[in-house]
This record gives sequence, C-alpha cells and structure tokens, in this order.
Amino acid sequence: MHPTFPKATEGRTKNPGVVPRIGPSSALTSLPPLSLYVHVPWCVRKCPYCDFNSHELKNEVPEREYLDALQADLEQALPLIWGRQVISIFIGGGTPSLLSASALDEMLAMFRALLNLLPDAEITMEANPGTVEAGRFTDYAASGVNRMSLGIQSFDDAALKALGRVHDARQARAAIEIAQRSVDRVNLDLMYALPGQSVEACANDLRQAMSFQTGHLSLYHLTLEPNTVFAKYPPVVPDDDTSAAMQDLITEATSAGGWEQYEVSAYAKPGQRCLHNLNYWEFGDYLGIGPGAHGKLSFHDRIIRQAKHKNPASWIEKSVRRDGSHISEERVIGPHELGFEFMLNALRLKDGVASGSFKERTGLSLLSIKATVDRARSRGLLEPELGRFRASSLGWRFLNDLQAEFLE
Ligand SMILES: C[S@@+](CC[C@H](N)C(=O)[O-])C[C@H]1O[C@@H](n2cnc3c(N)ncnc32)[C@H](O)[C@@H]1O
Ligand code: SF4
Repeated sequence: MHPTFPKATEGRTKNPGVVPRIGPSSALTSLPPLSLYVHVPWCVRKCPYCDFNSHELKNEVPEREYLDALQADLEQALPLIWGRQVISIFIGGGTPSLLSASALDEMLAMFRALLNLLPDAEITMEANPGTVEAGRFTDYAASGVNRMSLGIQSFDDAALKALGRVHDARQARAAIEIAQRSVDRVNLDLMYALPGQSVEACANDLRQAMSFQTGHLSLYHLTLEPNTVFAKYPPVVPDDDTSAAMQDLITEATSAGGWEQYEVSAYAKPGQRCLHNLNYWEFGDYLGIGPGAHGKLSFHDRIIRQAKHKNPASWIEKSVRRDGSHISEERVIGPHELGFEFMLNALRLKDGVASGSFKERTGLSLLSIKATVDRARSRGLLEPELGRFRASSLGWRFLNDLQAEFLE
C-alpha cells in the first residue's frame, strides 16, 4: 500500500531544495513514528488498470545502478531524519519481487547500516505470484523480510486474463503457500467489481482467499484510473448496486471468518494489522526513496512533503549526482492542507483517531477544524463522541462527502 494524497496537493509548485517556513502555529512538541517506503518501479508487463509508477521492463532489472542510486537517495535524506528510529519498511512497486535475492539482501544490509532500524521492525515486501519470484521468497525472508504482500487480484483465470495479469490461479495458490512457509505475516491483495464479475464470482474469489487463513486481506474495489488503458477503452464493470452487494458480502464474510475491517480496504486477524500503513493513516512520518516515492517528514516548526523524480532512468542519473536534483518536489504543507490531510487519512480508519492526535501530529489547534467538525456531526457524518474523530455509519457510507467537508 502506498500513501494516498488528496488530489488538491498534486501538481503544486515544484521547488526543489527550497523549504519555505511557516510560523509557530504549527509547532510540534514531539515527532511521530517514522517509516521508510522504498519504490521498485519495474514490472514484467504494465497492467491496463494500473496508474502506479511502474514501467514495463525491457531487459534485466538494472540492479547495480538501482542499488547505487537508492543508497545515494537515502544518504542525501539522512540529515532530515538524524537519530530517529525507523519502525517499519515497505518495499513496494512495481514488482519488487523482480529483484534477485542478493540485491534484496544488499538493500536491507544497507538500510541496517545507515538507519536506526527498530530490531523487530515490520519489513513488508510486495510480491507478484510468478514462478520465478516465488522461488525467491525464502531468501527474502532470510534477509529480513517478515511480511509479504501478494498481488493475487483474483483466483479466476478468465478474470486474471482480462486484467492483463501475467500469472494464473494455480500460480497464485502456489505463491501463497510458499509465502506462508517463508514468513509469519502474509497479506493477499484482491480486487473486486472486475469486468463482467458477478456477485457469485466475487464470493468465490473471497472464499478461496479466506481458505488460506492469512492474517491480512486487502480488498480493493477496481477503479478506472485516468491515463490507463482501461480509462481509454473502458471494460464493462458491475453497476453500483452490484458492487454494493459485493461490498456487503465482503463485510459479512470477513467478519464471520475472523478478519476485522480496520480501514476502507484492509481486513486483519487480531495482531495482524499492517503497522506501516497504520502509520500513514495515523499521520505518522515516512521517508520515501526510489523513483516517484513520496515522503512526509515533521520537524519542530514545519511538516514537509517530498517527492522524487518519477522516471527510473532519470532518477538513477540524478540521484547518484548527489546534488539534490533527484527531488522533484519539496515544500512545507500549509496549515489548511494539514488539517485536511490529517482528516482524510484518519477517517479511513474504522475506529478513527483520538482527537488529541490532531494537535500532536499537525501542530494545529483543534479550533482550526471545530466549525467543520460541528457541521459534520450535525449532519450525522461524524460520531458525536468527544475525544475521538470517527466516521458514523452514515459517514462511512459516504466517506468522500465526509472527507470533502474538511476541504472547504
Ligand atoms: C502497488 S499495487 C501493486 C502490487 C503488485 N505489483 C501487483 O500488482 O500484484 C498494490 C495493489 O493495488 C491494487 N490496485 C492496483 N491498481 C488498482 C486499481 N486501478 N483499482 C483498484 N485496486 C488497484 C491491486 O490489488 C494491487 O495488488
Ligand atoms: S504488476 Fe502491479 S504495479 Fe505492475 S503494472 Fe500490474 S498492477 Fe501495476
């Protein structure tokens, strides 16, 4: 899972290296937990629905160049996080499992050498269920990966084909079993509301996913993202009533099976929540390295947003120059955006967040959102309980509307 950003922050001034300051109104008395996100940008083939920063691999993964650029990227960022402990690492993509076992081992050794990494930090790696990749899972685990997130999407071969996936259902099942033998904590990504999918087919996918009893399931409603092949040639997808029936089925079946929904798309058995993603949603800090990686970092007097160059080749070239030119955006998040971004993330959590964390994480007074909170409560979108911001059942159904309240 990648950090989400409100569209409102996209495409703002690109201002490498210049960090304007804002006044003491955003003073932080303590810094939040810090995570590391690492982006691996290559895939065997670009899926027609995918708008992630992923690029079809023409030849081999340029591992040497990638690792050197990654190290240069991290070393240049170290002054921003001096002395801080890193609680989790998420290696996402793209397809990180295209990296050889030795490249992944070198990467993790480099992180241990350069970072103050919590000894039992959660280290997640995204992996695709191809045969070659699955053969490396035990080596990845030996290097320190302790959580694997598998991009299964469906167990239906026809659906997988329509999604342009390079694996089939048999390979998906085999990869899950290997992952479960390799690490204690496994997540399965599944998508629903797929082209031509019936409620029964969705139920069947879910049944098969649950049969593996992994501690975590991420169940995403397929979205037709702009600038993808599916946006240009839209497939016929289930109508709103059908996809709502799928969501109801998911809610019931996961809960009956012992997975608790703790976020819009995330379901976990007790003790199996993804700490890395929780840190995003609770407005923690994260450093992002690799092409297109985003970061959010707090200082006592400001909170900044950072993004790296998206194109893998130019990120590699710029990062090793060590002159900061690999950073495509770096700017202070303004007070108004801070309030919105905090709530945008917090309200994705089923239990919401303690209201006190608003001041703690944004440095802003609760008064700055009081009018909006009061309005959302009076509209029945936000639970009235004091001391917590949590979507009501109505707010949960109309989450976009509730989040949009905080944009105004
Ligand atoms: C960063 S992606 C990539 C993981 C991995 N490369 C893969 O595809 O198997 C993480 C997950 O996001 C979900 N996803 C990607 N594009 C999506 C879309 N357009 N709509 C809904 N979910 C999507 C998929 O379930 C995917 O496994
Ligand atoms: S494998 Fe994953 S990251 Fe790569 S193109 Fe497909 S969905 Fe995107």
